[in-house]
Amino acid sequence: MSDPMTRRRFLENSSVIAVASACGTAFAQSVPRSSFGAQSTAEEVTEGLDLSGKTAVVTGCNSGMGYETMRVLALRGAHVIGTARSVEKGQEAAASVTGRVTPEVLELTDFDSIVACGDRIQAMDVPIDMLILNAGLLLGRGLQQVRGLEMQFVVNHLGHFIFGNRLMSRVVDAPEGRVVVLGSVTHMRAPEGGIQFDNLGGEGWSNRYGHSKLANGLYSLELSKRLAGTSATSNCVHPGTVRTNIMRNTRFSAASFDKSPEQGAATQCYVATHPSLTGVTGEYFADCNPAEQGEYQKDETMAARLWEVSEELTRDYLV
Ligand SMILES: NC(=O)c1ccc[n+]([C@@H]2O[C@H](COP(=O)([O-])OP(=O)(O)OC[C@H]3O[C@@H](n4cnc5c(N)ncnc54)[C@H](OP(=O)(O)O)[C@@H]3O)[C@@H](O)[C@H]2O)c1
Repeated sequence: MSDPMTRRRFLENSSVIAVASACGTAFAQSVPRSSFGAQSTAEEVTEGLDLSGKTAVVTGCNSGMGYETMRVLALRGAHVIGTARSVEKGQEAAASVTGRVTPEVLELTDFDSIVACGDRIQAMDVPIDMLILNAGLLLGRGLQQVRGLEMQFVVNHLGHFIFGNRLMSRVVDAPEGRVVVLGSVTHMRAPEGGIQFDNLGGEGWSNRYGHSKLANGLYSLELSKRLAGTSATSNCVHPGTVRTNIMRNTRFSAASFDKSPEQGAATQCYVATHPSLTGVTGEYFADCNPAEQGEYQKDETMAARLWEVSEELTRDYLV
C-alpha cells in the first residue's frame, strides 16, 4: 500500500466512511465493512487464511483474549511470540496450543523487563507481521501507582509504548505489518478533558481505566500517522464485554459479560489478518467493523501531545 497507485486504486474501490488527515492534508480513507459481528469467533474470522511464514507478537498470551488470539493465529500457521509475566505462565500457555509458539517474559510495570523482552525478539531477526498489544489491567477504586504514575496508564499504555518503540523497526520490515492496540469503549468514560497531562499520578480522576484505554486509542491514532509512508498500519479495537479475568482486581466478576473469549478475540484477529483491511490505518473497530468513538479519541492534538509526553516519561528506555 505504500505505492501511491495501489493506494489510489484502493481508495477508489471502496465506500468512503471516514476522513483522516496525514501530513496536514485531508484524505478520505475507506474502511470496508465485514459480514462478521458480535457473535463471530476468532476461528470464524480467520477461516481459510494461511498465515504460515508470518510472525505475530501477542502481549498477555496466558489469559483471556490474548490466549485465544495466540491459539487461533498459531492454528492458522503463524509463528506466535506470546508474552506472559512469568516463564511458567508463558510456557504453560504455549504448551497448550497447537502450532509454533514461543513464550517470552514481559512485565509491563518493569521498564527493564520491556527492554529485555524487546531485545530478545529483535534478536530473532524476523519481520513482525502482527504486533498485538493486548495485555491489560483493570483495577478497583483504590489508587495504585508505578513510578509516581497511575498504574493502569503505565501497564496499558506506557509499557506498550516502550514495547512498540523497541519493535516497530521489525513491523516496518514486514511486507504489511499491522499493529493492533486493545482499546475499549470505556475510553468514552475518561475524565473530563481527556488525558490528564498535568496530573498523571491519577489523583481525583473519575475513571482511571477509561483514561488508560483512551491513551491506547490515541497511541494507535498517532502511530498510524507516524507510520505514513511505510506499508505498516495501526488500528485500535474494542473487543466487546468479554468473560475473561479482566475483573480479577475488582469486587466484580466478568461472568455475566456477553461475549466468550472466542468471540472477544475475533475483532483483534480480524483486524490483524483480514485481507480486506490492507492499508486501513488509524481506525477503531468493534464487532469486526468500524465503530463510533468518543471525541477525545479522535483528537489529533491530544494524540500528538500524548506521544511527546510518553517519550519524555520513557526516554531512557527507547531506541
Ligand atoms: N474483557 C473485557 O470485557 C474487555 C473489554 C474491553 C477491553 N478489554 C481489553 O482487552 C485486553 C485483554 O484483556 P482480557 O479481558 O483478556 O483480560 P485478562 O484475561 O485479565 O488478560 C489480561 C492479560 O494481560 C496481562 N497483564 C496484566 N498486567 C500485566 C503487566 N503488568 N505486565 C504484563 N502483562 C500484564 C495478564 O497477565 P496475568 O494473567 O499474569 O495477570 C493477562 O495475560 C486488555 O487490554 C483489556 O483492557 C477487555
